Amino acid sequence: MPKLQGFEFWSRTLGGARHVVAPMVDQSELAWRLLSRRHGAQLCYTPMLHAQVFVRDANYRKDNLYCEVCPEDRPLIVQFCANDPEVFVQAALLAQDYCDAVDLNLGCPQMIAKRGHYGAFLQEEWDLLQRMILLAHEKLSVPVTCKIRVFPEIDKTVKYAQMLEKAGCQLLTVHGRTKEQKGPLSGTASWEHIKAVRKAVTIIPVFANGNIQCLQDVERCIRDTGVQGVMSAEGNLHNPALFEGRSPAVWELAEEYLDIVRQHPCPLSCVRAHLFKLWHHTLQVHRQLREELAKAKTLEGVAAVSQELKLRCQEDMSRQKEGEKPPGGLPFFHWICQPYFRPGPREGSKENGAARSKRALEEEEAGTDVLSKNKQKKQLRNPHKTFDPSLKPKYAKCDQCGNPKGNRCVFNLCRGCCKKRAFREAADCPGHGLLFKTKLEKSLAWKGARQLS
Ligand SMILES: Cc1cc2nc3c(=O)[nH]c(=O)nc-3n(C[C@H](O)[C@H](O)[C@H](O)COP(=O)(O)O)c2cc1C
Repeated sequence: MPKLQGFEFWSRTLGGARHVVAPMVDQSELAWRLLSRRHGAQLCYTPMLHAQVFVRDANYRKDNLYCEVCPEDRPLIVQFCANDPEVFVQAALLAQDYCDAVDLNLGCPQMIAKRGHYGAFLQEEWDLLQRMILLAHEKLSVPVTCKIRVFPEIDKTVKYAQMLEKAGCQLLTVHGRTKEQKGPLSGTASWEHIKAVRKAVTIIPVFANGNIQCLQDVERCIRDTGVQGVMSAEGNLHNPALFEGRSPAVWELAEEYLDIVRQHPCPLSCVRAHLFKLWHHTLQVHRQLREELAKAKTLEGVAAVSQELKLRCQEDMSRQKEGEKPPGGLPFFHWICQPYFRPGPREGSKENGAARSKRALEEEEAGTDVLSKNKQKKQLRNPHKTFDPSLKPKYAKCDQCGNPKGNRCVFNLCRGCCKKRAFREAADCPGHGLLFKTKLEKSLAWKGARQLS
């Protein structure tokens, strides 16, 4: 049977999915996808996989796809990053029997993507992208899809989308932020760009991504832009029941997720990261439990902290006075699943007053003892890691340049400075293994012996 394309692929294979869970490294793993599907998600993406590693490493394939197979986890799109047509297609061929389509990540704006030359850093290489999509479209038994970021210019974004459509892309997800809009500069996504793309591409469905935090946003986005579906990442992580239009108590979803993880295990670091996001607002109140969560070394340890958080919430609920409003301008009390608004520059953003005050709250907190995201990730990987500068091991410094000095250096210098000095003075430093004096003496002795003979 010829493979389905464009709108037919979307309506038949993907069941006309409108509610989509985004590809998320370390976060859209099988257990999370199953939880999201139970709560209204109609299509999920795997986390981004590295095409080259996928081709070369059978264990990577097993850990990230083959052992994650589950009949309830369909429709499923596997996402790759790649920058070589042959490698992309080889990886996709190895994945195609386990999914409904293969996606090319053209949106990752992180430094790691810049170094690896993939994601949004391929945005200007239209010739290469055309070759990648064309070959994948020709060789694969499943459709190839793309996830892009926008250019600042609507016109260029539209031409970019049309180029991908022409090359054979069968479904396009448009994240309405530019490559520069990341971290604190994320700001709002431009639905104007997405709307223009939707109008301009004619034979393939388009998903919108960005600014989706609740079901009303989903409906507004579809109405305003005309897209076929809407993808959520951060909104889904903070409220996996977003697509049901519900904001349940956090423990309800935390417990359900932990039960799924017991059946479909995943790395503890992923579980912890999910619970940090689900319990985000509660952990701002019961801060001492953050450390407990970070330190928990087993699934049951993590579950015990989650249970303790539930008890604390229930105590807080019982103390709540009638008519009391959630503090800090939040829409709900901390024990209810709700969006998290990243701190960021306020100029030019179109958010409403409530969102602004939420951001202000986060900014205040960022100024206290909250670790940066990277440090939090490091701490999740190694719960014993500390970032307290007073606990950093102290190195004795080189007298000349301030670099760490060699422990047994006779001059109290680092290796570089020691080498220069020992050479200049024809001296030895056994601590650094430098024997200029000894060698000089040996060679003089040898010369003297030759002259005598
Ligand atoms: C934890 C996390 C991991 C992500 N990993 C990926 C990824 O693997 N591939 C990708 O294309 N985008 C990735 N993204 C970006 C999201 O898919 C999405 O484009 C972005 O977060 C904007 O959507 P949002 O406003 O709903 O959060 C990730 C985002 C988050 C928060």
